[in-house]
Amino acid sequence: MNVDEWLNKKAELILKEIGIKAGFKVLDFGCGSGIYTTIISNIVGNKGKVYALDYADDKLQELNSKIKSYKLENIEIIKTSREISFPFQDSYLDVILLYDVWHLLSDNERLEFLKETKRALKKGGFVSYLATHLHDPNVSVEKVHNLMKENDLILLEKFNKPMFHWSWIEEYQIFNYYKK
Ligand SMILES: C[S@@+](CC[C@H](N)C(=O)[O-])C[C@H]1O[C@@H](n2cnc3c(N)ncnc32)[C@H](O)[C@@H]1O
Repeated sequence: MNVDEWLNKKAELILKEIGIKAGFKVLDFGCGSGIYTTIISNIVGNKGKVYALDYADDKLQELNSKIKSYKLENIEIIKTSREISFPFQDSYLDVILLYDVWHLLSDNERLEFLKETKRALKKGGFVSYLATHLHDPNVSVEKVHNLMKENDLILLEKFNKPMFHWSWIEEYQIFNYYKK
C-alpha cells in the first residue's frame, strides 16, 4: 500500500481503532511534519485539540503550511528547545502519542517524558507507543513496558497495524498504556 492510499482509505480508521475519539485532547510528542497530527485533527474535531510538539523548526514549518492550506483550526504547535516539559495543567490530556521518537531520546529524556506523561495525562488517559527501530540496541519493548509500569502506566491494549514510518507504510506493533 502506498502512503496516499493509506492516508485516503485507512489512516483515520486505524487511529480510531487505536482509541482516538472525537473531543479528545491529544499531545503528538515529537510530531515531526505532523502526518499523525493532521489525521488526528480530523478525528478529534472542533471540540478536541491536537498539540503538536517538536523542537525541529523545519518540520514544524512544514506542519504549519499543512495547517494553513487545509485550514485546520484545532492544532496548536508547541516548539521546544528540546527540554521535556509539557505546558499543560495536571490531568489535562486524553492521549499522548509516542510515535517513532523513543529511539531518539536519551535515558534522562525518557525519564523526563514518563514523569511529564504521568502528570499531564488524565486518569483513564493513555500513551500510545508505535514500536519502531526495534533493531536499535537502545530500544527494547520489554524495557518500555517496564518503565511504563514503574510509572503506573498499565499496558492494556496491543495492535498490529499498517502504519506510516519515514516515507512508507509497514506493519508495526502499537501499545497503549493507561494511567490508573
Ligand atoms: C522520526 S520523527 C517522527 C515524527 C512523527 N512522530 C511520525 O511518526 O511521523 C521524530 C521526531 O521527534 C522529534 N524529537 C526527538 N527528540 C525530541 C525531544 N526531546 N523533544 C521534542 N521532539 C523531539 C524530532 O525532532 C523528530 O521530528
